[in-house]
Amino acid sequence: MKIISLKLKKKINNSYDLFIEPGLFSQIAGDIAKQVLATKYCLITDTNLRKLYGEELQGAMRKLNMQTTLLSFQAGEKNKNLATVEKLVGQMVQLGHNRQSCIIALGGGVVGDVAGFVASIYMRGISFIQIPTTLLAMCDASIGGKTGVDLLLGKNLIGSFIQPKRVYIDPQLLSTLSKRQIRNGLAEIVKHGLLADKKILKILRKFPEKALDGHTTTITELLVRSCKVKAKIVQNDEQENNLRMLLNYGHSIGHAIEHASGYRLNHGEAVAIGMNLENCLARERNLLAQKHQQRIEELLKTLHLPTKLPGSIDRQPIIQALKHDKKNSALNTYTFTLLKRPGRPIVVNDVTENEVQSVLLRF
Ligand SMILES: NC(=O)c1ccc[n+]([C@@H]2O[C@H](COP(=O)([O-])OP(=O)(O)OC[C@H]3O[C@@H](n4cnc5c(N)ncnc54)[C@H](O)[C@@H]3O)[C@@H](O)[C@H]2O)c1
Ligand SMILES: [Zn+2]
Repeated sequence: MKIISLKLKKKINNSYDLFIEPGLFSQIAGDIAKQVLATKYCLITDTNLRKLYGEELQGAMRKLNMQTTLLSFQAGEKNKNLATVEKLVGQMVQLGHNRQSCIIALGGGVVGDVAGFVASIYMRGISFIQIPTTLLAMCDASIGGKTGVDLLLGKNLIGSFIQPKRVYIDPQLLSTLSKRQIRNGLAEIVKHGLLADKKILKILRKFPEKALDGHTTTITELLVRSCKVKAKIVQNDEQENNLRMLLNYGHSIGHAIEHASGYRLNHGEAVAIGMNLENCLARERNLLAQKHQQRIEELLKTLHLPTKLPGSIDRQPIIQALKHDKKNSALNTYTFTLLKRPGRPIVVNDVTENEVQSVLLRF
């Protein structure tokens, strides 16, 4: 037998910067122009954001002589699917985008996940930039390079890792966001606080109203801290081989609840319930002290986030959705990130269906 080995040298530098500044939006076109990342740009956004911010950014880029097309798809998690991806790819081909094009994802986590995924597969991969417009996308989804779409069977089952070239975060864009969407993002900020930055929890406990109102200075500080937590974890484990698993805290049960609710609960709401239920599970295992579990539950309630499963959601589909979670390592047990106390998360891979059933029924 002849064996020919391909010795591939992987020397790609995926490093990038996040820029966080109130009022940054008006400077983005000029900054992109200076970088010369591509010969042509494809702005991808959703139907709500097209008029709010998409056309303005396209106009600003065209004024600077950057060839820029603007595509949008129907807003909402229901459209984070392969049909949307296929349509966008087709439109990009028709608009003459090639391998020197760059995608700019302008929107919440749904736009970021879809547009990033398109960037990772379009003509085998082109570059992309993130401009998150929801609190959730600013503090979490736009950072770390995870992209993907949902299948009917569960969330994010098809996807890729592709790091953006830059991330532009302007907290002033949150002025048009609904209060429910602010709470949605606060859930992920709580998660980052519980994983690795107690000052985040302190700020949220001291100024909950400011956080809920999207007060620019408070939100900017929370964003900077939250982005640092995520960036630090991602840079030590880009492709989720170990450390990055910590970010799944609240998400094992959370994703399953989000899916089983038919996306009536948004991501952050489902993650808030997921964090509380996973804390109850950790408490049952004597990992997390009751006083910590209760304090975290109180904080979530102060931020008007749900902590219990609504009666209208069946338990069985949640277990079904959990079975499709990518992180499960062995048959019949689940991999969860649990808290020992705030700031001390651990990954366990022996959570049983009975334990999950028990918290779903009891809490
Ligand atoms: N890739 C990751 O690492 C990662 C991390 C966390 C979450 N996610 C994904 O993110 C998604 C959720 O993202 P989301 O919560 O941002 O939801 P979303 O993208 O659906 O946005 C929520 C709604 O707000 C609107 N909107 C967005 N910005 C606005 C603004 N500035 N003003 C007014 N309206 C605005 C949108 O049009 C949409 O209707 C989920 O699919 C989740 O799986 C991905
Ligand atoms: Zn999340």
